[in-house]
Amino acid sequence: MTAVVRDYGLTGADSRLAVEQGLAEAEWFRPPIDPERLRDLQVRTNARAARDTLLWLGLLALFGYLAFLALGTWWAVPAFGVYGALYGGAGDSRWHECGHGTAFRTKRLNDIVYYIASFMLLRQPTLWRWSHVRHHTDTIVVGRDPEIMFPRPSSPRTVAGVYLPVAILPKAVWRTLKHAAGRIDDDARDFIPEDELPKLKWESRAYIAVLAGTAAWCVAIGSIVPALYIGLPTFYGAWLMVFFGAMQHAGLREDVLDHRYNSRTVYMNPVLRFLYSNMNYHVEHHIFPSVPYYALPALHDEVKDYLAPADRSTISAYRRIFATLRRQWSDPSYDDPRPDVPDVSESQRSFVETGFTAWAGDAHDGLIDLGPAAGLAVGSARRIDRGDATYALYRIDPDDLDDGDDGSDGFVLSDGLCTHGQAHLAEGAVLDGMVECPKHNGCFDLCTGEALRYPATEPITLYDVAVRNGQLVSRLTPQKAPE
Ligand code: FES
Repeated sequence: MTAVVRDYGLTGADSRLAVEQGLAEAEWFRPPIDPERLRDLQVRTNARAARDTLLWLGLLALFGYLAFLALGTWWAVPAFGVYGALYGGAGDSRWHECGHGTAFRTKRLNDIVYYIASFMLLRQPTLWRWSHVRHHTDTIVVGRDPEIMFPRPSSPRTVAGVYLPVAILPKAVWRTLKHAAGRIDDDARDFIPEDELPKLKWESRAYIAVLAGTAAWCVAIGSIVPALYIGLPTFYGAWLMVFFGAMQHAGLREDVLDHRYNSRTVYMNPVLRFLYSNMNYHVEHHIFPSVPYYALPALHDEVKDYLAPADRSTISAYRRIFATLRRQWSDPSYDDPRPDVPDVSESQRSFVETGFTAWAGDAHDGLIDLGPAAGLAVGSARRIDRGDATYALYRIDPDDLDDGDDGSDGFVLSDGLCTHGQAHLAEGAVLDGMVECPKHNGCFDLCTGEALRYPATEPITLYDVAVRNGQLVSRLTPQKAPE
């Protein structure tokens, strides 16, 4: 059989084809879920994320110390093995969750862990932040997704290239050197906004400075030991990152707008789930990226009836993956079959039927009726549709308003659609006076409309809202943002 060679680059023929076929920035399948339950699951706690982060860092310190005590003996090998797996392997899911901004409630804590883990993985923070936004927008769409691990046709060589850290090393180092010199590749330019590109140069230079400092330390003392702690674990520990990461999408269908067919959920034991931050619930994570990792098992229970049955274990998942990859060597069109994906009717997929209330927004005396105030609890949102326009009505804690309780009882009305994409903000998480977009975790200040978190950069418009006789009403007058 003649293999159809596809172009996995982001500026080639398949990229144009994906856009023409409506596969880029498209609407994806979403199973029904009770909106109140979803809002409960979206809540973040610093305590839980801090506990897990301190445990991870504590284990790193412990095994680093044991390796130090064992220097010069064979016991140093397993000790460094565990240290590397925690550094270059378990660091990946910490990078991931903090990149989404969902691990900690406090943004700064997410950012700190994100930068530390980015260095451990030799990933430039800005590059990978935007790469991952694209991965979530166009998951496993050829020519659009920069994070496809197994381009087809696969072969023993390409599969080995994914699993062998020695194959990762030259590419990662070369890209860092190129970016440090200001030579940004075309693929990166495709998904990173122009004004963010200069950061790549400085982030790469900072990495090189730390790694060069470590190398100089090694030379000065005539020992490779400092590099075994800083730098090299990215590579000798990468096997665990690949072991987990390859399970997410390997062998599954390309170019399909339904994560149930291109992502994999695998049941794992508690130790693996700790190392992997519950990312084994990968279908659920892709559909609802605003749910923090510690709520994914509960989310799985909510939606599993609409998904394909999870793989029973990592062993059974890998049996399927290797059987599929092997078959794709000769037949690139073959996909890991998902015959048990339940059929969910069109009506169940729709926004209203998933439980997110849409209000018609009828007008009386120049005032738009937004529905009863009593039905909207603090921390929840309601979609308002009026003609072709759509809005999101929220209730936040009045204490989160800039001026304290201004008499509005915490009701806020904004544009419905996120300024980054087409996601509806009424489906987002309403937390700490902000709304977080359900698609890529962009955040907006509900006092000013300001975009607070990438990838959203443009503000949303806020409108007047008042309570009259128990009904919420608005004239849809845009509110001027404070200076
Ligand atoms: S659609 Fe991307 S942050 Fe909202």
